[in-house]
Amino acid sequence: MSLERVSVILREADKRGYAVAAFNVFNYESISWVIEAAEEEDMPVIVMLYSACAGFIPRTAFVALAKDMANRAKIPVGLHLDHSRSFEEVMAGIRDGFTSVMIDGSMLPFEDNVRLTGEIVKVAHAMDVDVEAELGFVGHASNLGDYTDSARYTDSAAAVEFVERTGVDSLAIAIGNAHGNYVAMPNLDLKRLEEINRLTDVPLVLHGGTGIPDEQIKAAVKLGINKLNIGTELNQVFIQRIRETVSEN
Ligand code: 13P
Repeated sequence: MSLERVSVILREADKRGYAVAAFNVFNYESISWVIEAAEEEDMPVIVMLYSACAGFIPRTAFVALAKDMANRAKIPVGLHLDHSRSFEEVMAGIRDGFTSVMIDGSMLPFEDNVRLTGEIVKVAHAMDVDVEAELGFVGHASNLGDYTDSARYTDSAAAVEFVERTGVDSLAIAIGNAHGNYVAMPNLDLKRLEEINRLTDVPLVLHGGTGIPDEQIKAAVKLGINKLNIGTELNQVFIQRIRETVSEN
């Protein structure tokens, strides 16, 4: 197997009713662990650089590492730039070799999000690059209101219009999920998810995978989630193991 288009990985997941884990990684070790674990599970996987982490590892270095490891992997590996917030940031990611990008215009008014995402889709598709966008507000799990206030969730009618007008390849939605460690157990709005999935025809993405109970994740996958983003949990295990190893030795 080798590097694979994220859109190909997600369309297959959509067709067959499963989700692919997408991990925020940032160096040789974390990319290789994620690929190794996916090989053990015999599942495709997506390695993502959080766009703001480009200050810690140059995008070109990340892409070179990930592509080299992907091309030697036994499973399909997708390469994705996570949470870019501007046209310029996305273009820099494409220039530096990412084959899939996320434009996060979720903080913008609907029309501005449509316009920015649509412009990016046009350029990215011309260069054979896939685009994920976000509609609804996925905030911080340390703020209860960020994920319990349903006024911030993705509206299903707006999602239909957004997908149609932008031509985006996948859509990240807000259904009671948030980034980081949840201060109280999340309670995903599965009814809303079912409706969005029924009305749209693109793979759906769930951000904030850390700390969502397994049962809710399984239910969300059954109802249409095809990409599950995980960052905090991986980093916590990483730091924990460094601490243990250092204190043992
Ligand atoms: P967590 O850090 O909460 O797992 O979320 C990761 C994520 O959604 C990255 O886009």
